[in-house]
Amino acid sequence: MQHSRTSIGKREPSNINALADEYLLLSYHGLRAKDQSFNSDYKSEFDPAAGNLDVVPQDIGRVVLNLLNNAFYAVNEKKKEMDGAFSPAVWISTKKIADKVEIRVKDNGSGIPESLRDKIFQPFFTTKPTGKGTGLGLSLSYDIIKAHGGNLTIESIENEGTEFTIQLPVG
Ligand SMILES: Nc1ncnc2c1ncn2[C@@H]1O[C@H](COP(=O)(O)OP(=O)(O)O)[C@@H](O)[C@H]1O
Ligand SMILES: [Mg+2]
Repeated sequence: MQHSRTSIGKREPSNINALADEYLLLSYHGLRAKDQSFNSDYKSEFDPAAGNLDVVPQDIGRVVLNLLNNAFYAVNEKKKEMDGAFSPAVWISTKKIADKVEIRVKDNGSGIPESLRDKIFQPFFTTKPTGKGTGLGLSLSYDIIKAHGGNLTIESIENEGTEFTIQLPVG
């Protein structure tokens, strides 16, 4: 495995907005390259005050990528179910709030049922078919954010969508 859970990647001052923007394009174009039928709107809203944070950029990038890939997957599945009567959309935003920076990833997919909400962070929990999911994305993401002294939380409304919030401490 390339990435060990006890990553010793180096923290360095990293521009959070640039990182989020880079992984947004990586996620979207990566999914497009794998599946020509994949399509979704995406929007970003970056707070210029987010600035630089002392993080392991590859690790935070990996978390953002996991959340975006999950979001795009969710809206794409909903689009298939709704047979066109649905506009898939994914949002990513940053915001500086007091001594924290928040990165939010939101989608208008099918949401996560209440009964699954504490399971999704468990390693190997997946609702995706074999070959599409490993169930490791969110557990790894949670560990990475905790290792940075931050928080990863979720809000979801069934049939309306899901929003993950990463909170990272400043300084
Ligand atoms: N944005 C989302 N919308 C709906 N369900 C989600 C979303 N993100 C995660 N999930 C649920 O959480 C499960 C675990 O996610 P994850 O740990 O990334 O593993 P994987 O993507 O390999 O299934 C997914 O299989 C799915 O059921
Ligand atoms: Mg995933």
